[in-house]
Amino acid sequence: MDWGLRNRLSRIVRPESGRTVMLAVDHGYFQGPTTGLEDPAGTVRSLLPYADSLMATRGLVRMSVEPSVGIPIVLRVSGGTSILKELSDEVITTSMEDAIRLNASAVAVSVFVGGEHERETLGNLARTVDEGERYGMPVLAVTAVGREMSRDARYLGLACRIAAELGAHLVKTYYCEDFRRVVDGCMVPVVIAGGKKIPERDALQLAYNAVRDGATGVDMGRNIFQSESPVAMIKAVRAVVKDGKTVEEAYRLVEQEKAVAPPTKD
Ligand code: R5P
Repeated sequence: MDWGLRNRLSRIVRPESGRTVMLAVDHGYFQGPTTGLEDPAGTVRSLLPYADSLMATRGLVRMSVEPSVGIPIVLRVSGGTSILKELSDEVITTSMEDAIRLNASAVAVSVFVGGEHERETLGNLARTVDEGERYGMPVLAVTAVGREMSRDARYLGLACRIAAELGAHLVKTYYCEDFRRVVDGCMVPVVIAGGKKIPERDALQLAYNAVRDGATGVDMGRNIFQSESPVAMIKAVRAVVKDGKTVEEAYRLVEQEKAVAPPTKD
């Protein structure tokens, strides 16, 4: 692995902790104006100080993040589908050249193992890894799970291992029972997505269980920006993932911040 690629990776997974809190705000690329991201600039501004990196599309980055902020960007480069169509029918939407122009620290590509367009999405990943290796750009593979797939260790382990075999430098997947099996079989660091919004304590438990079972961290979106107190929630997630706090200790942070600044409704 060359110097540039390792340098970029270390901006995402900080060597001091070996862990990472990635803030995912790329949902609009297939969902449109997702709840909580109607005004991405406002949402992102208050959360960035507590994130190690931001996962987003180039459109969101350009319009919602000041270049001077300096947050490492994990740039989503696959997409081209919407919730109205077959989601696995993705193409590469952003060139490596544009990723470099945006000073991305990594690029992200979804794979749909078992999906209708499995082969094309795995091809997207492999080609992006080839380009990433050429330019020193790490590639995060996102294991997207179709509605018909079960999110168990057997399926997720298969998807993660295939992504790693094709050369992904990091893999993002979902937490599941027997998660350690997924991590142990993957060969490269694994981060978890948060999934649909769940109660804050449950989301913290998910993050806690994931790092306990070998995850390098989280790439979490809705459970942070759809929280009643997004800033408190990202601080609490960070406390669990990076500071070794228990779920109860971290949840107290959420309760304290809610008490000081109760959520306002427009
Ligand atoms: C999904 O394909 C997107 O990449 C999201 O970034 C991902 O699902 C993580 O966000 P959440 O924690 O909301 O699931």
